[in-house]
Amino acid sequence: MTIPCFLQPNTIYCGDCKEILTKFPDACVDLVYADPPFCTNQNYEVSKEDEYGTRGFEDRWKGGIQTYIPWMEARIEQIYRVLKHSGLFYLHCSIHAGHYLKVACDKIFGYENFRNEIIWCYSGGGIPKKDFPNKHDTIFRYSKSKKYTYNPEYRPYTKGTVKRGRTQVKGKYFDEGLRKEGTPITDWWTDIKYIHSPTDKERCGYPTQKSESLLERIIKSSSNPNDVVLDPFSGCGTTIAVAHKLARRWVGIEISPVACNLMKDRMIELDANPNVIERSLE
Ligand SMILES: C[S@@+](CC[C@H](N)C(=O)[O-])C[C@H]1O[C@@H](n2cnc3c(N)ncnc32)[C@H](O)[C@@H]1O
Repeated sequence: MTIPCFLQPNTIYCGDCKEILTKFPDACVDLVYADPPFCTNQNYEVSKEDEYGTRGFEDRWKGGIQTYIPWMEARIEQIYRVLKHSGLFYLHCSIHAGHYLKVACDKIFGYENFRNEIIWCYSGGGIPKKDFPNKHDTIFRYSKSKKYTYNPEYRPYTKGTVKRGRTQVKGKYFDEGLRKEGTPITDWWTDIKYIHSPTDKERCGYPTQKSESLLERIIKSSSNPNDVVLDPFSGCGTTIAVAHKLARRWVGIEISPVACNLMKDRMIELDANPNVIERSLE
């Protein structure tokens, strides 16, 4: 079988992202957002079965972090290879393995290409009895070179700032007055929802589903229309759905056939006409 041209827009690959990525040519995607299993030692499962089957995935690693990190490194190496010279990589992590993954990414991308450690703060969910509640995820942002897309995002000024004006600081970056677009979003994201509620309209019933507003911020700030956006751990397809809505070309890879079907139907609902490639590309 010939290798399908992945660059045809709107393709979902069902399989292991490492195997699939090795079949892609070098330097062919503009933006990668990866939200892999976090090494939490848990199984994520939605118990209710429907036409898709039980939704979920396993995040247990025999050998723990010592097994998980080389597994991730092998996939990040492929991500690095398929990224264009001007590309950007976002790696979504949690407290479980984030620090180890930062070291792995520094090695693969080069320490000098580390751009941001984004802290996504949220609320809701459980409260432990003996620890501070952990209510943030970390998203590492890497470029492949010094040339990459950055479309700044803004939020409205607070009422206090509007009344008082901007606080004066010395230095070359100070310019007086309020900007008409608002204040630039920093690396501290507190305005993005976490999907908790069972009645949330976005909810697909897939565990660990991320909100569309999170992906909107990443895709808008780091790519332009018609760019190719890749998600190698697509889950129920949040990245590719948002990429499609924002007129980007997209590629989703996912190992769970249940999630692939869910993602396919999500894209059909958006009239995205997805190509679905079910098995390895041999
Ligand atoms: C944290 S979830 C992603 C959730 C996704 N961001 C969303 O909004 O729905 C991680 C996903 O990675 C998938 N996965 C695990 N190992 C994989 C592999 N080797 N290749 C591709 N996907 C994999 C799991 O099945 C799971 O759906």
